[in-house]
Amino acid sequence: MNRYFTGYIGVIDSGVGGLTILKQLQHDYPTCNFVYIADSAYCPYGTKSPQQILNRVQQLVRFLQDARAQAVVIACNTASCFADNIRQQFNLPIYDVIVPTCKRVADITVNKCVALLATNATVNSGVYQRILNANGIATVAFPCSSFVPFVEANAVDSLECSREVDAALYTLPNCNVDTVILGCTHFPLLSKKIAPYANGAMIVECCSDFQPLSDNSIVPDTVFLTTGAQKQANSVAKWFGQVDFVHVDI
Ligand code: DGL
Repeated sequence: MNRYFTGYIGVIDSGVGGLTILKQLQHDYPTCNFVYIADSAYCPYGTKSPQQILNRVQQLVRFLQDARAQAVVIACNTASCFADNIRQQFNLPIYDVIVPTCKRVADITVNKCVALLATNATVNSGVYQRILNANGIATVAFPCSSFVPFVEANAVDSLECSREVDAALYTLPNCNVDTVILGCTHFPLLSKKIAPYANGAMIVECCSDFQPLSDNSIVPDTVFLTTGAQKQANSVAKWFGQVDFVHVDI
């Protein structure tokens, strides 16, 4: 694809999960133009090595920089673990979802003990735990990469999905946490299944602190790109509303 996205805000995720962040951004900045990239050909990220994840994030951000995007929102938590590294390499504003989510959590938790539900790679990176710990908050981490394929396959209502959620979270109700972080963009789509394990704790979705440099487009536009199959992305993203993914090789 050799199209420019001059002034657009790039929003990247390993798949369709980051549409949950895009929805927030479109709501907060209705006059901005967005270009969303679902890196579905390389999904899931959460079971890949740090180097493999970093390589993909670099490639996506380079694509957006070359296409003249205004800024990049790394909507994916697993990719956000590398945000500092990416900021050092690129010349455009890069926003991650981990720092703003930790800020939100710090404002909410009273007993300073929270649960983190995230991909295995995010849990293993220790990024959430470090930031929360620096704010005096203890974290009980639950690696939940096994949830992601159910969202990408549109199978969150399946019995297998319920079994997987139970296997990963059955100890959560006894953890004495007052806040549960959905530290993966895919997990809000499973929140009905996760909620019973929270045992009354507040469930917090990840968020962005993106601020536009300019948001004066007359006809706001959102472009949906996928590195995977166009048809699959469109069918999985039906919950989002009107989407028309176009395949892109990155
Ligand atoms: N959506 C991603 C996140 O927020 C990760 C899902 C995956 O590709 O494993 O962490």
